Formats: sequence, structure tokens, C-alpha cells
Amino acid sequence: MGQFEIFKEYEADRWFERNKEALKPKEDVIVWLLGLYGLLNKDSKVLEVGASNGYRLAKLYEKYGCTCVAVEPSQKAVKDGMDKFPFIKFHQVAAEEMGFGEEFDLVIVNGVLSWIDRKNLFKVVDNIDKALKRGGYLLIGDFQLPFFVKNPYHHIQDEAYTYKQPYKNMFLSSGSYLELASICYNHDTKDFENIDLGNLFCVSLLRKQSLYLLQDKVL
Ligand SMILES: C[S@@+](CC[C@H](N)C(=O)[O-])C[C@H]1O[C@@H](n2cnc3c(N)ncnc32)[C@H](O)[C@@H]1O
Repeated sequence: MGQFEIFKEYEADRWFERNKEALKPKEDVIVWLLGLYGLLNKDSKVLEVGASNGYRLAKLYEKYGCTCVAVEPSQKAVKDGMDKFPFIKFHQVAAEEMGFGEEFDLVIVNGVLSWIDRKNLFKVVDNIDKALKRGGYLLIGDFQLPFFVKNPYHHIQDEAYTYKQPYKNMFLSSGSYLELASICYNHDTKDFENIDLGNLFCVSLLRKQSLYLLQDKVL
């Protein structure tokens, strides 16, 4: 079984079972950063990819009354979310399988890209980009090391990996995204001062906008 199948068939459910007690609406760095930039209101349409039971979307709905859509492959997480947060529209699919078209003002993808099967990474980046309106915002939270590291996924030794790398650069180097903010911290300790590079976790806020200048205006 490949990494995509492992997560889709059982590991997404297992992750939910291991973590479900903590998956309750709360303030976190992402919710705080979105508030700081004043990005959301009741007319905003928000997609979270790998949303688990939708606990973060539920917090955003509570604060802004925005339209919330969740993509999540775990059947157990989706069932829990549909029971607890009926105002969220759930799609029980993987990021590789979603097919939205430039309809969201904000896409959140937190702690998910490091799990994606490498053969699907461009596909997932493309699906995220296609889901987002021009002028919309992308929030990527992940182990965004300035280099490339893979680690055996300790819950399924030797069969799957987590990948740490500068994910925001995949969007920034396209010329279609502007970086507005990045907040980095040690994922394990939540410490800003003593950042252990292996656990460097960054929440990055990008805006989808063209960065191209006409050559005759530059030269
Ligand atoms: C580390 S958890 C993060 C959950 C949530 N985004 C958060 O910030 O707490 C990773 C989530 O991604 C989901 N996931 C795993 N593979 C995925 C895929 N291919 N597409 C979308 N979501 C996936 C998992 O089921 C899980 O809910």
C-alpha cells in the first residue's frame, strides 16, 4: 500500500482517534493571525483542507459567521464533525481528490502537506491553488524547514514518512502569491526563543495576487 492509501484507508481515522479529545474549538495561532489581519466576515467562504472534525472552522464560524467547508479523508473525523458542527459542509475526500474552482476567500492547510505522498504533492498544490479566488488568502501551517528532511512516520514504521520542507516556497516561486506574514515556533514546546530546527513549525499567510511587472517598466 502506498502512503496515500495508508492514510486514506486507516491512518487518518487512527490519527483522529488518538487526538479527538483535543479537537475542540479554541483560539490558536491561525485564528489569532486571521483576526490580526481582519480577513474574515460573514460573507467570507473558507475551506480547510485536512480539517479533521472541523474544530478550527467551528471557531471561525463562531467568530465571524462565515461559510465553512471541510475536506477530510477520515470517516470518523467527518462523522464527529457532522454531529457536532452541522453548520460546516464536509467532503470526505483527500486533498488529492478535491475539485473546487476559484470559489474560496481563504484556504487553510495546517499540518497536512508534510503527510502528502510525494508523488501527489504537485497535484495537491494545484488543487489548493484552483480552490482559491484571485485576491484570496492561503494559510499554510507546517514543518517548514529551510531544507528537506523525511522521517519514518513513527505510528507506521517503514511504510510512510513525514516530509519537512519550505512548503510556502512552492506557492511563492510561482509568481502568483505574496507573503504577508510568517510566525514560526518550536512545534513541540511552542517556544519562540529556543527553536530546534527539526521542529520548526511555521504558519504562513499568503495572498493570491500576480507579482509580475511588465519588463519595459522594470528595465
Ligand atoms: C496533523 S493532522 C492536522 C489536523 C488539522 N488540520 C489541524 O490543524 O489540527 C493532519 C490531518 O490531515 C488529514 N489528512 C491526511 N492525509 C490527507 C490527505 N491526503 N488529504 C487531506 N487530508 C489529509 C488527516 O486525517 C488529519 O486530519
